[in-house]
Amino acid sequence: MTDGMIERLRYDVVILGAGGAGLRAAIEAARPGVKVAVLSKSLLGKAHTVMAEGGMAVSFGNLDPQDCWQTHFYDTMRGGKFLNHYRMAEIFAKEAPDRVVELEQWGAVFDRTPEGRISQRAFGAHSFRRLAHVGDRTGLELIRTLQYKGIHSGMDIYQEVTATHLFQDGAGRPTGVFAYHRQSGTFCVFEAKAVVIATGGWGRMYKVTSNSWESTGEGAALAMRAGAEMKDMEMVQFHPTGMVWPPGARGLLVTEGVRGEGGILLNSEGERFMLRYDPEKKDLSSRDVVARSIYKEVQAGRGSPHGGAFLDITHRGADFIKRKLPNMYDQYLSLADIDITKQPFEVAPTIHYTMGGISVDPETGATSLEGLFAAGESACGLHGANRLGGNSLTDLLVFGRRVGIGACDYAASRQEWTAPSASQVAEAEAAALAPLDRAEGENPYQLHKDLQELMGEHAAIARNRELAEAGLAKLEALKLRSKRLASPGSRMYNPGWHAVFEVEAMVLLAEAILQGALWREESRGAHWRLDFPDADDQGFGQANSICRLDGDEVKLSTRPVPQMPAELAALFSSGQLPVRQGTDQGGHS
Ligand code: FUM
Repeated sequence: MTDGMIERLRYDVVILGAGGAGLRAAIEAARPGVKVAVLSKSLLGKAHTVMAEGGMAVSFGNLDPQDCWQTHFYDTMRGGKFLNHYRMAEIFAKEAPDRVVELEQWGAVFDRTPEGRISQRAFGAHSFRRLAHVGDRTGLELIRTLQYKGIHSGMDIYQEVTATHLFQDGAGRPTGVFAYHRQSGTFCVFEAKAVVIATGGWGRMYKVTSNSWESTGEGAALAMRAGAEMKDMEMVQFHPTGMVWPPGARGLLVTEGVRGEGGILLNSEGERFMLRYDPEKKDLSSRDVVARSIYKEVQAGRGSPHGGAFLDITHRGADFIKRKLPNMYDQYLSLADIDITKQPFEVAPTIHYTMGGISVDPETGATSLEGLFAAGESACGLHGANRLGGNSLTDLLVFGRRVGIGACDYAASRQEWTAPSASQVAEAEAAALAPLDRAEGENPYQLHKDLQELMGEHAAIARNRELAEAGLAKLEALKLRSKRLASPGSRMYNPGWHAVFEVEAMVLLAEAILQGALWREESRGAHWRLDFPDADDQGFGQANSICRLDGDEVKLSTRPVPQMPAELAALFSSGQLPVRQGTDQGGHS
């Protein structure tokens, strides 16, 4: 069916995003008789998922038999500084082993121990060696496996298609999305009973980031504009180790796997400074702690020549490094002309992940809007104030599957179709075309650059009240400019036009981040307030921040962090690490 020239397609479930969460959700939703579409603004296989290189966390206990789901749950909650939704962390830790085994059965080829079991490596703030991995290309292997499984599971995949609007019925329920083909510029309406947002994070609003160009948050912005609640948006993760030099490579991820395999951080005086900041976990402390420590060393004048720290793994030997970290070896050699088997190399914190996002129900991934679901980095709840490395890949598998079931069940429960009306489609079309018709207006690339400057100055690793307030004031001007973005020219092959939708989304999400950063008057996880350097466990630590769009304004409110039931709370009260008990030695082959 067409509205004039606009094609209409009808699916039970439409999934936005073809990273790990979107693909895993689609595999689950695509049951016989259920039509599923996956829309990817990029090409299949090109997702930030591949930037989780070092592994996926799962308590197999293959190398450390004491590991169990309770320990994984404990580490995840402690790492998240108890801002996490306990139920998400519980589901996650319990279901992770089944999801990783399933991935292996679908074809993922993990590194093995000499006995032939899936190998597991150490990672920051995990009590045991827990990360199942494929060298330092684990995210790539996950995507490859899910793609292969997915294309045989009966879903339709639309590549280089971007959704610009979420249609809703009178009750606010999604009825589909308005989208365009990035190459041809032609429009398309995807009618749907359930819509899943799995579009990842928005790290591109910062200049120094490990995120590739896709991570601009349009999916989250669609949800927010439609009225969905966002949670803990102030929580943005700096990965401690990104490349610093040469400038063109700045921000590129240096996997935590380097430290997991024995790499140590040194300052300009050759001191292993993490011994001072966290004598117990040292270089494998949680990401927030390591990133802050590097920042402090640089501030104290003990940084590396380009404003970071040195990472040294030469003691592990060339053969080992090339086998376990082939990507890192190639990356430094080709981009920086540095052989990491022979010399230490510079690293510095880089924006890597957004812990905040669309608030979801732990069981199904349902958002606060009936019929709208979210999973992966665009959703919020599992990671609290700080995500542990390796927990994101498993998150995509566990909650991708759950959201696939949730959306599919919901679509099945909706008997009747409500198609977007012709006038709704015409309105969405006019909005999409407006930047092309504006002869004069703001350049989206310039606005993006200005936003990156603003966020780097006002919502970075170290924050305070003045910075957040000034950032919000400056953002007002950017908001106004974002209403008159222009990219005159053709609809075909027009990257400036694509940039318009991305920048509009990032400006919106930036406001939520700054509001959260201003409101949370304590330091917790990734959120470090210089004017409130301590955690406030009885006050702010008991609350999640909630942002909603009210007209043109982001409004912040709070909600108590859900309290754990007694049996889970008991894991933290004994003062002992919960470990596998008895004769069961654990392990998975
Ligand atoms: O350092 C890394 O390999 C990243 C892993 C992650 O973000 O989970």
